[in-house]
Amino acid sequence: MKPLLYRQIVVCGMRSTARRTLPAVCLLLALLGQSLGPASAATLQQATPARPVECGLTRATTEGPYWRAGSPERSNLVETGMVGVRVRVTGYVYNSACQPIPNALLDFWQADYYGNYDNTGYILRGHEYADSSGRFQMETIMAGEYPGRTIHIHVKVQAPGGPILTTQLFFPDVAHNSSDGIFDPSLVVRLEHTPEIKYAYYNFVVGTANSPVPGTCGSAGSGHRSRCRPSRRSGRSSRPRSSPARSRGRRGRPSD
Ligand SMILES: [Fe+2]
Repeated sequence: MKPLLYRQIVVCGMRSTARRTLPAVCLLLALLGQSLGPASAATLQQATPARPVECGLTRATTEGPYWRAGSPERSNLVETGMVGVRVRVTGYVYNSACQPIPNALLDFWQADYYGNYDNTGYILRGHEYADSSGRFQMETIMAGEYPGRTIHIHVKVQAPGGPILTTQLFFPDVAHNSSDGIFDPSLVVRLEHTPEIKYAYYNFVVGTANSPVPGTCGSAGSGHRSRCRPSRRSGRSSRPRSSPARSRGRRGRPSD
């Protein structure tokens, strides 16, 4: 059962069915939200990300050279002895009609605390599926920076049978955001802190099998385009949605 807060936020996010009283209700909810006391780990775990008012498609960004097929299915990338600040990325996957997409696929990969990718194994790589309400949660660490790149987490998101969105998540108040040519403010998570862990919230909006509006950056080895906007042209990626073949990578410092 969805938490009440989530239901309320969803109602506030509806574009076409809102009644006259809805704005007042939403305003009240917003005020109530602002009146909440200091967040604790327990309360934050129950919180849900705000739903986008307008379900514009999430912006695509370059894949970079270090995506690997065949990542393990899991919702926790943290391993014993791993260095780094813990962060729990939570959100929903929606379609362009602001409807949640159950069973959407999310495939994450990122650099470690030192800014290195594991290109021979699957450290800090993993995929999972959104639940029946379109919600996902991935436990990981804050990625390290490396030359030219601010803190970011790569992710591919795909509705069942839909086009693949390849993008990256960024974090607020990072000094190098402004000097990173790939940084996109629309991809910044909402971040909350506790002494134990950071909570990052982000909702993805992707095309579906019925309304395929693919991003233009998605093919393996597509290179280093600094930014790619969703295309209005119909089409789909040829990459299989699940059980992709494992491939051997190379170890080295990534460029994006
Ligand atoms: Fe990267």
